[in-house]
Amino acid sequence: MEIKRHFEKDLAGKVALVTGGTKGIGKAIASRLTAAGATVIVTARHPSGEANPSYHFIAADLSDPAEVLKVSREVSDKFGGVDILVNNMGANTYPGGGFSTLEDAHWNEALQVNLLSSVRLDRALLPKMLAQKEGVIVHISSTSSRFPIWESTMAYSAAKAALNTYSKALSDEVAPQGVRVVTVSPGLNRTSAMAAFLEELAKNANTTVEAVTGKLFERLGGVPMGRMAAPEETAELVYFLVSQQAGYITGANYVIDGGNFPVV
Ligand SMILES: NC(=O)c1ccc[n+]([C@@H]2O[C@H](COP(=O)([O-])OP(=O)(O)OC[C@H]3O[C@@H](n4cnc5c(N)ncnc54)[C@H](OP(=O)(O)O)[C@@H]3O)[C@@H](O)[C@H]2O)c1
Repeated sequence: MEIKRHFEKDLAGKVALVTGGTKGIGKAIASRLTAAGATVIVTARHPSGEANPSYHFIAADLSDPAEVLKVSREVSDKFGGVDILVNNMGANTYPGGGFSTLEDAHWNEALQVNLLSSVRLDRALLPKMLAQKEGVIVHISSTSSRFPIWESTMAYSAAKAALNTYSKALSDEVAPQGVRVVTVSPGLNRTSAMAAFLEELAKNANTTVEAVTGKLFERLGGVPMGRMAAPEETAELVYFLVSQQAGYITGANYVIDGGNFPVV
């Protein structure tokens, strides 16, 4: 879907870090913040392969505490810290099948990737925000944090639910010192991770991606808008939340899901 975008350079002079910014939702966020004039730093395990990316790239596996420290050191040395931190990186890469297929190693990985990577990066980069009495942190969660599907998202949903709770607690702690902390919970987005997830479901059920996509929509109780989001639509919300226009917003969890979430 084509979105009308206004490229006001209202983030000029701001330094933003977007984790997992080479693909999917993170790539769209990095691009949107760049368009708004921010200096953008992107992390991922592998470079995107783009010829001349508009961002500074740091290779790091954020599930490893030492790599988180490496990122924060490089960011501090080269940019003096960040004004905007978007903890976007996350993944549901664990076997489906419910409680009996999930071993401690799967649970541990789910928590490292979807919770502790953000906790550690926040802890490393918050001191500068607190010192300047200004900054914004966004945690990209998921509607599945409140709507787990036992057969395919158990560990991922539980880790994202912990991220929601941590995000709220952190916002309460740092709001008096001028730092805002916001959670964004996307529903289904058309990304390579979603494509891989659907292909895996189709392979396991010995059926087509179209068939499992329809089943997934049904399993979620339907998506009133009848489609997945384009990552750019989710990025637009993140852009608003980090902008000055959202200056009174903190501690909230924004759902962006085409109407899927079934309760008020
Ligand atoms: N897609 C959806 O429908 C959906 C729905 C709800 C919530 N979300 C959430 O939105 C966020 C982005 O999802 P997405 O679908 O855009 O994912 P994606 O397309 O798979 O992109 C993930 C990004 O994170 C990086 N990454 C993955 N594991 C990493 C690790 N251990 N350390 C550092 N970087 C890592 C990837 O690059 P490398 O592989 O090179 O490291 C890539 O840049 C996630 O938090 C996800 O849980 C997505």
